[in-house]
Amino acid sequence: MNADALKNQLNINPSKGRIVAIASGKGGVGKTSFTLNLSRTLAKQGKRVLVFDADLGLGNVDVQLGLNPDMDLSQVVRGRAMLSEIVTQSNLGFDIIPGRSGSEDLPFVTSLEQRNILKDLRAIAANYDVVFLDIAAGINEEVLSFARFADHTLMIVTPDPSSITDAYAVVKLLKNRHGIENCRIMVNQASSQLEGEQTFEKMHTAGKRFLNVHLPLLGIMPQEKEYMTAVRMQKIAVDAFPHTKCAENFDAIARKVAQL
Ligand SMILES: Nc1ncnc2c1ncn2[C@@H]1O[C@H](COP(=O)(O)OP(=O)(O)OP(=O)(O)O)[C@@H](O)[C@H]1O
Ligand SMILES: [Mg+2]
Repeated sequence: MNADALKNQLNINPSKGRIVAIASGKGGVGKTSFTLNLSRTLAKQGKRVLVFDADLGLGNVDVQLGLNPDMDLSQVVRGRAMLSEIVTQSNLGFDIIPGRSGSEDLPFVTSLEQRNILKDLRAIAANYDVVFLDIAAGINEEVLSFARFADHTLMIVTPDPSSITDAYAVVKLLKNRHGIENCRIMVNQASSQLEGEQTFEKMHTAGKRFLNVHLPLLGIMPQEKEYMTAVRMQKIAVDAFPHTKCAENFDAIARKVAQL
């Protein structure tokens, strides 16, 4: 029996569940801070986590962490560094791949493909339990290509109606244009549990009725002023305010994500 046949028989897929895109239709819903809080929580639970700052226009993972890395993705797309060389340790128990700083206008998706960056990322992912892709908001091809590449996509939605319709548009394009149905719904900034549930129901019902896509719920995160304060202080909310509902929810969500 060759290695592939053995792998199939044992049902071992080395990348299964490991690469998780964090997406949204609308910007500013909380993708980056969610990614960092989740990564920190998973790290505390003993998981090896990598965050790839895939918001290629306005990457801000390093900003939210108060880091100033020497190298970022722009060196990689120019062929001046390998992806593995820019993996940076944060002091929070997880690693990051810093995005580029923003001003340049490289054809990024093409560069990623030409330089085999996603292939390299898959290889690097073998060293981690979970790799998060913090991707840009919206429905452009760059966004879709990361969501297609990921094993799972966590779609962040807030109760804001435009956040819901924009998220729906991304789910629709993924399904209709690419046949991808890998999204779970993460409601953020809910003012109550009920509002969170209603937000989820809207997404879930629309997905089922109009797209025949099942959109499971990952979780509901309340809007908390401590969370906002933490982001402003460039701190991780679960560290700065460990006794909040958000921190409690991150614990439960991290356990779910580890099982994806
Ligand atoms: N659960 C929450 N409670 C309170 N404030 C929140 C919550 N989640 C996010 N925010 C606030 O929303 C703002 C945007 O968060 P963040 O930068 O993480 O969003 P983003 O989706 O990554 O944005 P962008 O699309 O610009 O990359 C932050 O100022 C943060 O404080
Ligand atoms: Mg962001």
